[in-house]
Amino acid sequence: MMADNVRPPQTVNRLIIPKQPRMGPIVRVKDLVKRYDGRPAVLDGVTFEVSEGEFVMIYGRSGCGKTTLLNLLGGLDRPTAGLIAIEGQEIVGMPEDQLAKLRLRKIGFVFQDYNLLPDLTVRENTELPLRLSKVQDDGRVSEILSKFDIAQIANETANKISGGEAQRTAIARAMMNSPKIILADEPTGNLDAENTENVMRIFELVTKDYGTTIVLATHDKDLAKHSSSRVYLENGKATLETD
Ligand SMILES: Nc1ncnc2c1ncn2[C@@H]1O[C@H](COP(=O)(O)OP(=O)(O)O)[C@@H](O)[C@H]1O
Ligand SMILES: [Mg+2]
Repeated sequence: MMADNVRPPQTVNRLIIPKQPRMGPIVRVKDLVKRYDGRPAVLDGVTFEVSEGEFVMIYGRSGCGKTTLLNLLGGLDRPTAGLIAIEGQEIVGMPEDQLAKLRLRKIGFVFQDYNLLPDLTVRENTELPLRLSKVQDDGRVSEILSKFDIAQIANETANKISGGEAQRTAIARAMMNSPKIILADEPTGNLDAENTENVMRIFELVTKDYGTTIVLATHDKDLAKHSSSRVYLENGKATLETD
């Protein structure tokens, strides 16, 4: 039913980062607290670690703080207290310009609403990060489009493609700068079961073929079970689960 949507690898993986000896966790979160003005803490002492190449699910009911946590991990917002280290580098007190560079070099973001530019084609949306950072396409755009099975719609504008295709394009775009980590916030929230499965296969392919670490937030407990590594958020606290 969905098997033909994800092809086996066909090309050399140009984006691959040579495997390096593991230097400890790629993400470290310690005693993290986030309180929005005058309200009880959304995150009230959250501690966990993510290993390089791991695919971690963060799950919990709507409002439990998943988006808040991803925004903190990606340096899009600052915590009230606690530590966050990305590849051993502490980011909580980091100046904004340095944080912006770290985001650009190391982190890819994927959102529920895809955030594509509707009048640009699939290919143009995908290659946007290369244009913005004035990096020459070394063949990675075509490689990723074919790997993600969207090469055949490369010249369609984003407003004409399906939700599943749009999310695969958004993940392709997130891969352009060879991020170490992808932060995905409810990436299948607008998709039906079949497209959810397709998108999850793409994430699995990304960790396997490129060694990219994935942190995916979802309210869907069944989806969270795709991974044997989970962080359950409730009442500001995190419970770690592994199968
Ligand atoms: N910018 C903000 N200002 C005030 N409250 C916020 C803000 N962002 C989120 N919240 C509140 O924090 C809680 C957690 O929100 P969120 O992180 O979006 O949860 P989730 O993604 O798990 O649904 C909610 O009660 C939400 O209303
Ligand atoms: Mg959310």
